[in-house]
Amino acid sequence: MIAPSILGCNRGALAEESRMLQDAGADMIHLDVMDGSFVPVLTFGAGTAAAIAEAVDIPVDAHLMVSHPDRLISPFAKAGCEWITVHPEVTEHLDRLLGTIRDAGCRAGVALNPSTPPGFLRWVAPKVDLVLIMTVNPGYGGQKHLTYVHSKIGEVRRLLDINGGGDAIISVDGGVDDSNAGTLISLGASVLVAGSFITGSADPAEAIRRLR
Ligand code: DX5
Ligand code: ZN
Repeated sequence: MIAPSILGCNRGALAEESRMLQDAGADMIHLDVMDGSFVPVLTFGAGTAAAIAEAVDIPVDAHLMVSHPDRLISPFAKAGCEWITVHPEVTEHLDRLLGTIRDAGCRAGVALNPSTPPGFLRWVAPKVDLVLIMTVNPGYGGQKHLTYVHSKIGEVRRLLDINGGGDAIISVDGGVDDSNAGTLISLGASVLVAGSFITGSADPAEAIRRLR
């Protein structure tokens, strides 16, 4: 699946831009929600997510780069986000948080910063629907893809498979383009999040085709 990040889109027209990306062949819309605390930048909240979810027929994934994700599960679920992804680095109660996401009717994702070890998945694998492996430090689009993280993809797949998370899927986020997409898929990813490669292109439909 190809999940364009709308971080680099026209902020005054995010619903229209998301619709355009759907028509260009996207399978999912990736929302980078930033609070100015967990990461320096502030992006948008649940109201904007609702306008985007209303404008498209494909699933919306809210990637919550925020210091208090527990406060945002209900608003983003009500906004129509099918997937909600949280960072384990900022919660002492990941098990509970994953349960809250599923109880809200959503699919539960965990996003791992490049330096975050994946071993904790042993304990929460059955409660996870998606693992978002960050190949940049979160906060900005257009950063250099960190290839040293590639070895984590197979490790995550193994941890999921042997601990009851065999149905969970792996997504990779950060500096994804047509030069690394094939490698990422061959290592075990099934969702590619791409921001600047798609939305910075003069022809987003062609960029999505090239990734596919
Ligand atoms: C980084 C975000 C990513 C990013 C993707 O903080 O989580 O989703 O915007 O953009 P590119 O593909 O430009 O790295
Ligand atoms: Zn993201």
